[in-house]
Amino acid sequence: MPIHDNDRHAVVLEIGRAYTKCGFVGENEPRVIIPSKLEGTKKREGIYLHEYSTKKELHSNLVKFLHHIFFKYLLVNHRERRIVIVESLLCPTEFREVLANVLYVHFEVPSVLFVPSHLVTLYTLGISTALVIDIGHEETTMIPVCEGTPLIHAWQAQPLGNKAIQERLESLLLLRAKVQGNGGQKIDLVDVMPKLSRAVLEDIVVRTCFVTTLPRARQLVAARTHEDGPSPPVPPPTILYPLSGNNNLTLDGSVREESAEVLFETDNEMVSLASMVLDAILASPIDFRVPLAENLVIIGGGCMLPGLKFRLLAEIKDLQQHPKYSSRIALKALKVHRPPAKSNYTAWLGGAILGATEAIATRSYAREVYMQTNRVPDWNNLADNTKEVDSRAG
Ligand SMILES: Nc1ncnc2c1ncn2[C@@H]1O[C@H](COP(=O)(O)OP(=O)(O)OP(=O)(O)O)[C@@H](O)[C@H]1O
Ligand SMILES: [Mg+2]
Repeated sequence: MPIHDNDRHAVVLEIGRAYTKCGFVGENEPRVIIPSKLEGTKKREGIYLHEYSTKKELHSNLVKFLHHIFFKYLLVNHRERRIVIVESLLCPTEFREVLANVLYVHFEVPSVLFVPSHLVTLYTLGISTALVIDIGHEETTMIPVCEGTPLIHAWQAQPLGNKAIQERLESLLLLRAKVQGNGGQKIDLVDVMPKLSRAVLEDIVVRTCFVTTLPRARQLVAARTHEDGPSPPVPPPTILYPLSGNNNLTLDGSVREESAEVLFETDNEMVSLASMVLDAILASPIDFRVPLAENLVIIGGGCMLPGLKFRLLAEIKDLQQHPKYSSRIALKALKVHRPPAKSNYTAWLGGAILGATEAIATRSYAREVYMQTNRVPDWNNLADNTKEVDSRAG
């Protein structure tokens, strides 16, 4: 198949735990971004792809999901399209094995190119060394890339994504929020609904929450922990959020401000977004530590929360003074790149750029090879990164 066949551009997919980005190589944004779940019915919420119990269930869900993508959203004949999959280096092997099986055996695609999301993100910027920070739905993952090589041993992953913020928001709301009916009467939220749906929580986080500044966060903690301490700072305004029917939820300014604090709270083991960055840099070769700190690339829908990047930099600068780091690390400057795409699909764009190059022909894994070997190469396996394997490219 010719590389630059305009009628048959390869399809680029990034299947995240919350959202799937789908489009074609050579384009500057995905055609659609859809929730990574099977569409639900009126009575039942859809099932998320990553929430499977058996391989068989995942297989059947992926078949239905990809069928929708090919025939409802992209309108392509899958037998004629090469596929580029942008995946996390930390993606469970089971998931990628089932995905490969569905693509090659069920949909009979001619070839698949698996590309690691943290690495291809750098193609959007044309740089080869950076610390890539992906703040996704379930977790935040960080992998330093040095001269085009992801340092797998230095990876950091913690369940500090948008889901953590949603869970904190839910517990704060159930504790403090009131529901205001038409008549103006106020009832505790817990009495109206003991649980909020994922869709509502996500909507509240994206529309109303923000990340506060470090000095204000300190004031909030001081006011909470010391009874006779300083009074808390004046909270942002309370807003009304429409719930079902005529009910409105009163969203306290403090709830909107405090939900995202979960990303920066240091527990006993001192794990926060800031400590992850410093740990990733410390785990990298000494010569690369300064270049990594000066080349931070922050991606993922989670980092689109207003104030997050600014706060993260402030937290890192502050944490550097801590005895745990001050003797081992002396970073002069922290610099953040601004990729030419919205954060939630920057990695997808990297895949679309790489897929438009010769790599699609030289590095894809052909269907015939898969049918013989019944496996796909693994990034983390040295046996798959030898010249012999490269020569099997389709
Ligand atoms: N503009 C925005 N402001 C704040 N949050 C947002 C915004 N857009 C998306 N998000 C949130 O970012 C989260 C992560 O989105 P993203 O597309 O990066 O998830 P994902 O790639 O599916 O997750 P993962 O990387 O964990 O597999 C979602 O929960 C979404 O609610
Ligand atoms: Mg993601």
